[in-house]
Amino acid sequence: MGETREMALKGRKVIVTGGAGFVGSHLSEALVDIGADVICLDDLSAGKMGNITHLSDRPNFHFVKLDVCDSGPRMDELFKGTDTVFHNAASKKNICLINPQRDLDVNAAGALNLVQKSVAHGVRKFVHASTGSVYGEPRIFPTNETHPFEPVSYYGVSKLAGERYVDVFHKLHGLDTTILRYFHVYGPRQESNEFGGVVSIFLRRITAGLNPIVFGDGEQVRSFTWVRDLVAANLASAVNPRATGEAYNVASGIRVSVNELARGMLDILDPEGRLQVEHGPPLLGDIMNFDVDSRKIREHLGIGFETEFWKTLTIALSDVQAFLGDISGPQQAKAVS
Ligand SMILES: NC(=O)c1ccc[n+]([C@@H]2O[C@H](COP(=O)([O-])OP(=O)(O)OC[C@H]3O[C@@H](n4cnc5c(N)ncnc54)[C@H](O)[C@@H]3O)[C@@H](O)[C@H]2O)c1
Repeated sequence: MGETREMALKGRKVIVTGGAGFVGSHLSEALVDIGADVICLDDLSAGKMGNITHLSDRPNFHFVKLDVCDSGPRMDELFKGTDTVFHNAASKKNICLINPQRDLDVNAAGALNLVQKSVAHGVRKFVHASTGSVYGEPRIFPTNETHPFEPVSYYGVSKLAGERYVDVFHKLHGLDTTILRYFHVYGPRQESNEFGGVVSIFLRRITAGLNPIVFGDGEQVRSFTWVRDLVAANLASAVNPRATGEAYNVASGIRVSVNELARGMLDILDPEGRLQVEHGPPLLGDIMNFDVDSRKIREHLGIGFETEFWKTLTIALSDVQAFLGDISGPQQAKAVS
């Protein structure tokens, strides 16, 4: 997508839900740079102010602490005059194992609330973050968007319900929607506690002088996707009419096993070989194989994806502090009950 198209968002009011989280903070940053009037909405249940402090003095950035399930007058006030909603707030996978009811509330009822508000307030565009987990354990490879929905986790079920509400609002009310199914996102500011991504968790351990722990035999394959490719997918979806009513896989297509990742990160971060890969028990519901077909978003929206995984990772890992983000901020992801 050309820069001129993204620039169409300049001066427009946009809401980024989950804006203090990992993906949402990168998206907020890009939108602030474009010159959009950004409302960063987050309840801080998992997100951190530390992820967005660098944006706080930008005049077109506004943080609002609010629950996406809130249907009251404060939400109506925020939606007034909104051009685009980027819905990234979610109760995440590991949290779901502890509290599936919260998942249902946030991921399904929260999405329903936001599409209802979008229709009521004449929002032009609704871009919805979903997940590859809606497919469950894939059985058709490469997995494209027509794969049956067979989630094997509470998270997958609740996210599927959320994206189906979004789709129904497109069909019944003509809301201009796009569903983006993310896979194994990595990049700076990803949570590195037990609710975080595997790259950040390994990084945290290795830099603390601890062995990375791989659950199961480590042969499970992941399709790691650079966070800025997701930002590009969100922006393109917001401005390209081709994306109307579509659902896209947003995955790099890179296939790396967790063993390869752990060994590769040790090569980069521990060249003296002091540490080694450790194995733990397999995780319940862990999906073994991913081979994701992202041709549709490449063809429709021209998203290129960062294909040089190890090169990108090596550059990203050269600034450990930036990668792990502000770890002095509230680590509220643990307060899930
Ligand atoms: N990171 C990944 O690998 C990945 C993969 C697939 C899908 N996704 C999806 O991408 C989106 C962003 O994920 P992320 O990795 O940035 O997660 P994250 O946990 O870093 O960010 C989610 C944000 O949502 C906020 N939030 C949670 N419940 C809320 C509520 N009720 N009201 C308002 N805010 C609330 C949290 O405080 C947090 O800041 C989510 O929809 C997630 O399901 C992420």
